[in-house]
Amino acid sequence: MHGFETAGEAGPALAGALGAPFGLVRTHRFPDDELMVTVPETPDTVIAFLSLDRPNQKLVQLVLAAEAWRRLGARRLVLAAPYLAYMRQDLAFEAGQAISQKAVAGLLAGLFDRVVTVNAHLHRTHSLSDIFGSTPADDLSAAGALGDWLSWRGGASELLLLGPDEESEPLVRATAERCGAAWTTLRKTRRGDEEVELSVDDPGRLKDRAVVLVDDICSSGATLAPAARRALTLGARDVRALVVHALFDRAAAAELQAAGVRQVVSTDSASHPTNEIALAPVLARALANEIAP
Ligand code: R5P
Repeated sequence: MHGFETAGEAGPALAGALGAPFGLVRTHRFPDDELMVTVPETPDTVIAFLSLDRPNQKLVQLVLAAEAWRRLGARRLVLAAPYLAYMRQDLAFEAGQAISQKAVAGLLAGLFDRVVTVNAHLHRTHSLSDIFGSTPADDLSAAGALGDWLSWRGGASELLLLGPDEESEPLVRATAERCGAAWTTLRKTRRGDEEVELSVDDPGRLKDRAVVLVDDICSSGATLAPAARRALTLGARDVRALVVHALFDRAAAAELQAAGVRQVVSTDSASHPTNEIALAPVLARALANEIAP
């Protein structure tokens, strides 16, 4: 398996879980900001580990590395990107806008023979095959890892897992089923251009409960912060958050804290101070068939 410097511990951890050697792809930045990428000794099948949070430079690294891998004889290139970038722009919301999801999926499909990711943000697009075409693309779920972490932490049956919106339902439900917690989601009703009301089917359910907000992404915090405030006004005694992809900065962390979120825990799909849940076992299960016996 090959990984890039930005992979941190997650790359070697995945290689360890696969029982495969880990080779480092080195990147040199020239004074004019162009990059030069050097890949290690290249096997027949390269599993390339690179999570695509803060993606712009990383996409160029992949383009360059793929050229080297192919020229050095790789017959199969598999991208393991626990976070897949640019999936949220799935429409041209205004005339002239690029559909980034289509463009980036098309680029990766042209470089790799298979792409493996976790909880890709697919909203209007139903499946990765709609955008990756004939290139196989696996969208794994972190729900098992989230649920196992809640079980390990203890007291899961006392928790109420709360999705901040209807879209979060599959992830919240699967996480709750894994650890035996209760769950529900908030519902958004737009009351005007600026006003969104968050409601829940049975508001009494949140009273005195330890609530864990569960979502795929936390980026600006603009989804979780109002959800936390709503949970607290409905009587929750404690609000924490569990996210798959932690993309938020310090300002958003302060905003979450101000909204009453006592703790955020995330998977290591993007390197972040809140990382506590390793995705290596989830990725390794999906990638085991790529490793020669
Ligand atoms: C939205 O559909 C997603 O599931 C997340 O809730 C959203 O992307 C989180 O982003 P932010 O933190 O910027 O609200």
